[in-house]
Amino acid sequence: MERPAWAPRSIDISVPSVSRIYDHYLGGSHNFEVDREAARRAMEFLPGLPRIAQANRAFMRRAVRFAVDEGITQFLDIGSGIPTFGNVHEVAQSARPGARVVYVDHDPVAVAHSEAVLVGNADAGVVPADLRKPREILSSPAVQGLIDLNRPVALLLVAILHFVDDADDPYSALAELRDALAPGSLLLLTHASYEGIPLPPQRAEGAVDVYKDIRHPLIMRSRDEIARFFEGYDMVEPGLVPMPNWRPDTAPEDEDPYAFSGFAGVGRTA
Ligand SMILES: C[S@@+](CC[C@H](N)C(=O)[O-])C[C@H]1O[C@@H](n2cnc3c(N)ncnc32)[C@H](O)[C@@H]1O
Repeated sequence: MERPAWAPRSIDISVPSVSRIYDHYLGGSHNFEVDREAARRAMEFLPGLPRIAQANRAFMRRAVRFAVDEGITQFLDIGSGIPTFGNVHEVAQSARPGARVVYVDHDPVAVAHSEAVLVGNADAGVVPADLRKPREILSSPAVQGLIDLNRPVALLLVAILHFVDDADDPYSALAELRDALAPGSLLLLTHASYEGIPLPPQRAEGAVDVYKDIRHPLIMRSRDEIARFFEGYDMVEPGLVPMPNWRPDTAPEDEDPYAFSGFAGVGRTA
């Protein structure tokens, strides 16, 4: 298999990756046949996966604009993925020139691609790191150089926590990040769930099994379990809701039913 220039030599391109499968759902071009094959298998069970991914991206952009309107100028996006269009730095910096953005991902393709799109952007940086090691993120040169932790930050954990098992204690990682944030900081979060999926859970389970097969299990949490990620935050209205219902720009009545799978919310530190 030929290795394109954007694929770092360190990666095994015969093994599917979560970020490249997601890139395929979104119509991106940074994926290989193994990724597309895994995406196709998942979509056999859950055909609405591309629509869920689009609703997730649309929430992310609305929430970033909300954060800018709240006066936030610093963004820490963990699990930032392979940027397609309309990324956090584009939304934030067009609404507020000079906004600082740091992307964090543990996937080498996501990191390499973010580095490429950020060339010449002095207000944004990338950290190759893992959410499960918050200290490495907070002490990284990009965070230290670009983010003033004494001022409010928007922390984005968008479509990442459902890849972190309870055995890896994501709740502690979040507490550590929250404790590092200044009052008035925001947590912008989405998470997959069986709640809201317009199919019987047994059917959606087939898609979950595809992620198990590629050794990146998808953890479908309940709304209550997802709400626990906001411990120490006050929920911003309308709370933890299906993605299209979070401060929609237009009435969501015509939305595809799949867009209502999973949850989105924004919390504010006191
Ligand atoms: C579904 S993508 C979401 C991308 C982007 N946040 C969005 O919502 O459009 C999930 C991303 O999280 C990354 N990821 C998963 N587990 C991670 C971890 N423990 N630490 C850092 N990144 C992680 C994956 O590599 C992938 O790029």
